[in-house]
Amino acid sequence: MIFMPCKILFVCLGNICRSPAAEAVFLNKIKHNRLEKKFVVDSAGTGGWHIGKLADSRMRKIALRRGIVIESRARQICLNDFQEFNLILTMDNSNLIDVNSLAKEAGVPYKSEIRSLLSFSKRTDFNEVPDPYYGGEKGFDEVLDILEAAIDDLLLELSVKL
Ligand code: 4NP
Repeated sequence: MIFMPCKILFVCLGNICRSPAAEAVFLNKIKHNRLEKKFVVDSAGTGGWHIGKLADSRMRKIALRRGIVIESRARQICLNDFQEFNLILTMDNSNLIDVNSLAKEAGVPYKSEIRSLLSFSKRTDFNEVPDPYYGGEKGFDEVLDILEAAIDDLLLELSVKL
């Protein structure tokens, strides 16, 4: 890995369901693998409706069943993030479009590589992490399954470079 620590920002729309879950799953896995010192992790939303709020209670409850504690508070992605983070990982195609246009707006050379999280995932038929917000509990569990598998693959790929 060229950058140490490697700084990763997970991004979704509201920063209350998918990206805070991705952040917490990632933190859990690096703790388990004693890799905490090698990474800085955060999450943000492209929208600002939920700024300051804890993650959706359904997501927190279902994650906790897996031993994953989601503690972050929602914030909106900002131009400085493109200078701060090495990797910005989006949940769906719409987030990817929004983040890429914001990066262009920044107007200065930025250091972040912008990719969809699932571009790292080798074990899923999904190419986007589905938005669980308007659905039932099953959708939140499915998101966590997708995130856990994708983050295992992401860590495998990053570990080679550590
Ligand atoms: P997220 O889910 O992008 O995974 O945090 C959503 C949360 C809230 C809304 C949409 C998606 N919303 O419209 O308020």
